Amino acid sequence: MKLFLDSAHLGEIREAMSWGAIDGVTTNPSLVAKEGKDFFPLLQEICETVNGPVSMETTSRDAAEMVEEGRVFAKLHQHIVVKCPLTKEGLKATRQLSAQQIRVNVTLCFSPSQALLAAKAGAWCVSPFVGRLDDISADGMGLIRDIKTIYANYGFSTQILVASVRHPMHVVEAARIGADIATMPFTVLEALVKHPLTDSGLDRFLQDWERLPESAKAWKTAGATAARRARTAAVPASRRR
Ligand code: G3P
Repeated sequence: MKLFLDSAHLGEIREAMSWGAIDGVTTNPSLVAKEGKDFFPLLQEICETVNGPVSMETTSRDAAEMVEEGRVFAKLHQHIVVKCPLTKEGLKATRQLSAQQIRVNVTLCFSPSQALLAAKAGAWCVSPFVGRLDDISADGMGLIRDIKTIYANYGFSTQILVASVRHPMHVVEAARIGADIATMPFTVLEALVKHPLTDSGLDRFLQDWERLPESAKAWKTAGATAARRARTAAVPASRRR
């Protein structure tokens, strides 16, 4: 399963890229507005930072305007995927953009029938918002299971991009179901890494290591000294303190 970061924050994106954790990025007007930066330069920089798809959402309710925006977005960078809402106008725009080989992420999906229409419109992927369904006591992950069944029944190539992810178990469950992508806020990505037994286990290893006599650790000390010497040698004499 591919993991995307649901963020327009360059610092978060760069940090997540440094772990090799993410395969792409999703944004939406709220996330972009939160950054308070010029839209195109920000999305351009995100596209140059991420080695994968970057979803960028149209900001109209009208199909013709969405198509026009989508065509402009697509010219920005090859990584761009245009986001259109799951409305009649959004489906019309999806149909037209996908016919022009422009990838569309159909977003704000909350039902299996909506997901079926997104696939029929030629969506590159559909974004079911599991967290917002859970927030109203509906079954967010049940929607993912339904979409997976429907798409498999008819061989739709539209990918399932699980969105509105609130915690690691949404990600784990999405992987168990066989969703194609999960997109998540940086806080959830960080939570995927954390486990108290890992932290306590590492503490114990290093505490036990410290109990070794220094002579038994000479290799590490020698290694550290050699590395420090190499770093110092790499600094021009004029700049050495
Ligand atoms: O990509 C969609 C996602 O940003 C929505 O998440 O937390 O606003 O429901 P949320």
